[in-house]
Amino acid sequence: MHTVSFRVNSEPQTVSVPAATTLLELLRDRLHLTGTKEGCGVGECGACTVLLDGAPVTACLVLAVEADGHDVRTIEGEATGGELSALQQAFIDAGAIQCGFCTPGMIMSARALLTRSPNPSDEEIIEAIAGNLCRCTGYEAVVAAIRNASRQLTREAPALLADDEQTKAEKASGEP
Ligand code: FES
Ligand code: FES
Repeated sequence: MHTVSFRVNSEPQTVSVPAATTLLELLRDRLHLTGTKEGCGVGECGACTVLLDGAPVTACLVLAVEADGHDVRTIEGEATGGELSALQQAFIDAGAIQCGFCTPGMIMSARALLTRSPNPSDEEIIEAIAGNLCRCTGYEAVVAAIRNASRQLTREAPALLADDEQTKAEKASGEP
């Protein structure tokens, strides 16, 4: 067994896992964070996408022990105080969700993009979600959702982006 100490959505976690446990198994089966989905299990579909130190990774291909000492963010970290993030709401408003199986992974890829490039081009958006397969909605509505979230966060309400990150920092520090 190996001890993994890491932060998930700003919460410290320490668990013991067999060496072959994947990050996806750790998140879903041990921590019960079932928002992250398992599709193919071999790195092809992107349904299991989470952020590892801010970078999107397919959790089915990452060993749990590789997360030791690092920060992981999952779809459960998007909402704050029961309120959907602007990015989640944009997916709903654009009709970018049908069965929803791909949506957590799509949103995590989009989150990584908007963090590093708050005002991305459509080409950047398409590139960012290239590893996330959707079998029912198609991609135009997803691209529109990310574009709309970008506009809301950077143009119409720039403070939202800062507030969003400040709220995460406050949750991490335990101070308002
Ligand atoms: Fe990980 Fe498909 S379940 S990429
Ligand atoms: Fe069903 Fe994308 S909404 S797979």
